[in-house]
Amino acid sequence: MPSFSDTILAWYDSCGRDLPWRRTRDPYAIWLSEIILQQTRIAQGQAYWERFLAAFPDVQALAAASEDEVLRLWQGLGYYSRARNLHQAARQIAAAGRFPDTLAGIRALKGVGDYTAAAIGSIAFGLPAAVVDGNVYRVLARHFGIVTPVGSTAAKKEFTALAQSLLPPDRPGDFNQGMMDFGALQCTPAAPDCALCPLAATCAALATGRVDTLPVREKGPEVLERRFDYVYVRFRGRTAIRKRPVGDIWAGLWEPLVADQRFQGFADDGGRIPRNPLGRSAPTASNLLPDDAVLLKSGVKHQLTHRTLIVDFYLWEPAEEPTLPEGYLWIDETELDRYAKPRLFEHLLESLP
Ligand code: ADE
Repeated sequence: MPSFSDTILAWYDSCGRDLPWRRTRDPYAIWLSEIILQQTRIAQGQAYWERFLAAFPDVQALAAASEDEVLRLWQGLGYYSRARNLHQAARQIAAAGRFPDTLAGIRALKGVGDYTAAAIGSIAFGLPAAVVDGNVYRVLARHFGIVTPVGSTAAKKEFTALAQSLLPPDRPGDFNQGMMDFGALQCTPAAPDCALCPLAATCAALATGRVDTLPVREKGPEVLERRFDYVYVRFRGRTAIRKRPVGDIWAGLWEPLVADQRFQGFADDGGRIPRNPLGRSAPTASNLLPDDAVLLKSGVKHQLTHRTLIVDFYLWEPAEEPTLPEGYLWIDETELDRYAKPRLFEHLLESLP
């Protein structure tokens, strides 16, 4: 009987996905694909990968770009710290003069954790490092009947050791990508195709009727709410925006006036913060917004990993030029395109008259 690893490799050879970053050996292009795919689906990520390579064909080009350029190209992918880390890592690589080709060297790049280091190392350099992601957890938990709840430190250790022991030293990159694809296409979360599975004969979950209950999940952190009031000010064809501060969501992206002042020392308690975003009068709940601001959108929900944002969007067209809070600048409304913005803000802009 062929081994588990031989079966994964044979399945990958005939059923693996034909993805553009699998047709290159360029570590820069492979690294870029892995950073994009960290929190993005392949269908969406592929177009960004192509655009990034067109704009920045090599690591020197990416290193020479400004952070704003990189964020603008990243716009829409979310998790913008990935883009900032990508840019900083490009500068690390350019300064070193070549792409690192050891696991420790790759792991030392900004934005590269254990998973991404193993993926890049195995795919680009044939290094013997097993990747462990949600797909791998699922395939291994089912096939080997592992009941350790995934998400725990113990699980990470156990699954990593198992994956590592299964890794064929001559084709680590293909095995890793075979596991990803096998989990994504064959051994799927809700509707695995056990009838046509090449590993069915040795699958513990199938033999014991536990396909539906493996892997065992630990309960994740509670998702909290956070409320924003966004005020789009329009005065003589101009509007006011600021760059969001480091240390909070959307760092480095541009947004309109906002009544969330966590960056000024308020606790992020998920509640509405009673502050006038324009700083014109006393910080009481009733002064949260200018009286003549018009509500355009109410209760718009936007899901982040650990927060549900709930946003009200106002248009304010003051008769006289208001004083802006610190950090804001006036720009021509026609220039908004040039600023990298959270997708939520882009979406809200569509409701402007
Ligand atoms: N997800 C992360 N890396 C991947 C890869 N190389 N192929 C397919 N899916 C992935």
